[in-house]
Amino acid sequence: MLRLAVFASGHGSNLEAIYQSISTGAVHGVDIALVISNNSASGALSFAKKMAIRGVHLSLLTCERDEKKLESKILEILQEAKIDLIALAGYMKKLPDKVLEKYTGRILNIHPALLPDFGGKGMYGMNVHAAVIASGASISGASAHFVEGEYDTGEIILQEACPVVVGETPESLSERVKEIEHRILPKAIQIIANRITKN
Ligand code: GRF
Repeated sequence: MLRLAVFASGHGSNLEAIYQSISTGAVHGVDIALVISNNSASGALSFAKKMAIRGVHLSLLTCERDEKKLESKILEILQEAKIDLIALAGYMKKLPDKVLEKYTGRILNIHPALLPDFGGKGMYGMNVHAAVIASGASISGASAHFVEGEYDTGEIILQEACPVVVGETPESLSERVKEIEHRILPKAIQIIANRITKN
């Protein structure tokens, strides 16, 4: 059984989607062993608590504003929890370099657009959907991709598209894209889990 850590900063609907996929057996051989959030009030930590999953609030504030202390603390907790695989599900912080190094090829992220377009620094949440609508694009979607040093640049694992309709608002597009995220993130986790298990 591979042990998964989910990093999340906000509501946690992708965390819930992963949990549901494991509960129904759609995703197998993977267990959510840890939830890490930089936001003590995040829906993700409340969900983890409700499901008796270990949840940890970790941020610069909990590490005397010291990046190096935060890096060591994250590594220490991942090691302690014997984590094999990491999913970023609406995690608004960059992972520290040593975490990226240690888990190369084992970290994936979900992004609410069809990368490589509409990605990069500042492209998160409603900003993304507003940019898609402003560009006049007729389709949008979501991307599950590997995480490396730069925001949203890693190899794409899975994508799914949806139409951008007339009169679209960032909120209405976000809702349609979220449905796709909740489908492809668990599937991408299974793909990477299968690769790890095979090796
Ligand atoms: C998602 O739209 C994800 O693509 C983006 O952040 C949002 C997190 O949503 N990176 P939730 O907290 O999983 O509901």
